[in-house]
Parts: sequence; structure tokens; C-alpha cells
Amino acid sequence: MKAMVLEKFGGIEYLHMTEMATPALAEGEVLIRIAYAGVNPVDWKIREGYLKDMIPHDFPIILGWDVAGTVMKVGKNVENLRIGDEVFSYIRKPIVKWGAYAEFVAFTAADVVRKPKNLTLAQAGALPLVSLTAWQALFDFAHVKRGETVLIQGGSGGVGSMAIQFAKWAGAKVIATASTKKHDYIKSLGADVAIDYHEDFESRIEKVDLVFDCVGGEAFTKSLPCLKRGGRIVSILEQMDPAQAKRLGIEASYVFVRPNGAQLATIADLIEKGHVKPPHIEEMRLDEAGKAQEKLKAGNVLGKIVLKVS
Ligand SMILES: NC(=O)c1ccc[n+]([C@@H]2O[C@H](COP(=O)([O-])OP(=O)(O)OC[C@H]3O[C@@H](n4cnc5c(N)ncnc54)[C@H](OP(=O)(O)O)[C@@H]3O)[C@@H](O)[C@H]2O)c1
Repeated sequence: MKAMVLEKFGGIEYLHMTEMATPALAEGEVLIRIAYAGVNPVDWKIREGYLKDMIPHDFPIILGWDVAGTVMKVGKNVENLRIGDEVFSYIRKPIVKWGAYAEFVAFTAADVVRKPKNLTLAQAGALPLVSLTAWQALFDFAHVKRGETVLIQGGSGGVGSMAIQFAKWAGAKVIATASTKKHDYIKSLGADVAIDYHEDFESRIEKVDLVFDCVGGEAFTKSLPCLKRGGRIVSILEQMDPAQAKRLGIEASYVFVRPNGAQLATIADLIEKGHVKPPHIEEMRLDEAGKAQEKLKAGNVLGKIVLKVS
């Protein structure tokens, strides 16, 4: 199969198109012909070696954890999917090796889900990682409730754009940060209040029950005074010292998203019923993967980039 592979950690010059063996199919797995691969910040973070001590890997690496495509083969003991189904999935494996920037991937069928009928494969390829991240942060960790006020830091990003919609669907009031040029976009997703993060807003917004931090660093620190006493902060970047959280009288948690077919099926259902819409997407070619990563890293993307594979 054709694949975009990474030969060693470093710049985009270490990414190149080549031929690789099609992955073998194990029991409980399906083989997916990938139509679109989603691009996420973690892709360039892995390429540049930032996560090399945290994530087991084996070169050459095929990057990419988001796919939409068609089931081509079904392994033994797979009951939820058939050949020809159009599916989407967050395909992170314990070892980073066989990813989404390729024609085929084999993955655990239980975590592969039929794509929402009202989405194109391109739209579906943008969704699994960011929507599962937002879902797990808001519901598994922060337990957001109807009537609560939530501050979403990084509301215009892939994760933030799904988090705004999930929090609204759950009945919360949403304050979201983004640069001013993206305020119309985050309001179109349901944000009640749009804040430009370049301003000092901490003292002038109402105190919130929950912060969802999708930015980290200074944005995380500046979020703390926005919380009510007893409030919760959930971050996908920062792990707070529990002693500090206790001193401040808040609950803090860190989330690292996991594949979850049942949650992805629920998200697909919300999309089909019109409660949630996909983020804005930009299509590029598979051989432009390096360019796509650079564009994402520079912050020049509205919504998500997907790579057209086949
Ligand atoms: N732990 C996990 O499981 C997990 C899962 C997914 C993602 N992540 C991480 O979470 C981060 C966000 O992911 P993503 O996919 O949403 O990224 P993304 O699509 O690249 O979005 C980042 C967004 O942040 C905005 N932004 C930049 N600086 C900001 C600030 N100080 N305050 C508020 N917004 C700011 C940018 O928009 P503007 O143009 O408005 O600046 C951009 O839209 C990445 O670092 C990613 O690696 C972690």
C-alpha cells in the first residue's frame, strides 16, 4: 500500500511517500481502506520527537490517528461491521507504527463505528480524536451538568469546537476563548459568550463551575481565578499538582483520550439527529501531510485539516 512514513524524528523533510506492506488482520479487527486521514497537533508533536519518551514507537512510523473509510475485510469474531460499511475511528494503538496516513489500517472492530449518514467521509475523518477528547473530558472527568457555566479555553480549535457543542447539548452556558476573527465561528457552534484571549478577561467574566483547558501553559494558569470555589478544571495539556488543587479548593484532572467505540457511536447519533455539527474542514492531499502539519502548528487553520488518501 502507499503510505506517508516518518523515517526519524525531526522536520517534515523526514516524511516521505513510500510502499509498505498492507497491515495483517488479527482476530476482532477490521481492515479499513482509508479515504481521509484527520491531521491533529499530536501528529507534528510525535514527528518532532516531543513525545518519544511517553509513547512507544517503532520506525518507520505511519503517523495519524483519525480515519474515515470503507471496511474491506472483517476478522474472526467481528459482529458489529460488514464489508462495505463506511466507518470512522480513532485508531491509536499501544505502539505508534501503523497510523492513518496510508491506504489501509487494521483496527479493533469494537472501536470502529459507522460514520454518520449525513456526513461526507471527509467530514467524518476530522472527527474521532477531537470529539472523543471533548466527550471524555466533559462527561467522564468533569461531569458537566445542566445549568452550569463552562469556560472553554481554545474554543476555535478542533477539540474546543466539539466541546462547545457538547456542553451546550448538556444544557450548560458556554463562555469560549478564541481570537476575535474566529468569534463568529464559535458563536455559530453555540458559544453564549466569545472572549478574545489576547485581552485580560479573567476579572471581568462571571465565575464558572468548570474550565475545559484545550490550550495549556499561561491559559491554564489564567483559568484558575475564573473558577468558583469548589469548581473543576479539566485539561488536555496540564497535570496539576493535587496539593495545589486542594489548596485552591478545586478539582483538577488531566485527560489523555482513549479509543471508545460506544462513545463514538453516541456522537455519531447526535450528529445524525442534528444536535451537533462537524467542524469546518479543509482538504489537502496525502503527499501534503508535512505542509498540513506545518499549517496546523502555525495556527493558520479554521477547524480541521483532512488528508485525501484514496
Ligand atoms: N490529552 C489529549 O488527549 C489531547 C487530545 C487532543 C488534543 N490535545 C492537545 O490539545 C491542544 C488542542 O488541540 P486541537 O486539536 O483543538 O488544536 P487546534 O485545532 O490546533 O486548535 C488550537 C486552537 O487554539 C487557539 N488558541 C491558540 N492560543 C490560544 C489561547 N492562548 N487561548 C485560546 N485559544 C488559543 C487557536 O485559535 P486562534 O486562531 O483563535 O488563536 C486554535 O484554534 C493541542 O496541544 C493538542 O496536542 C490533547
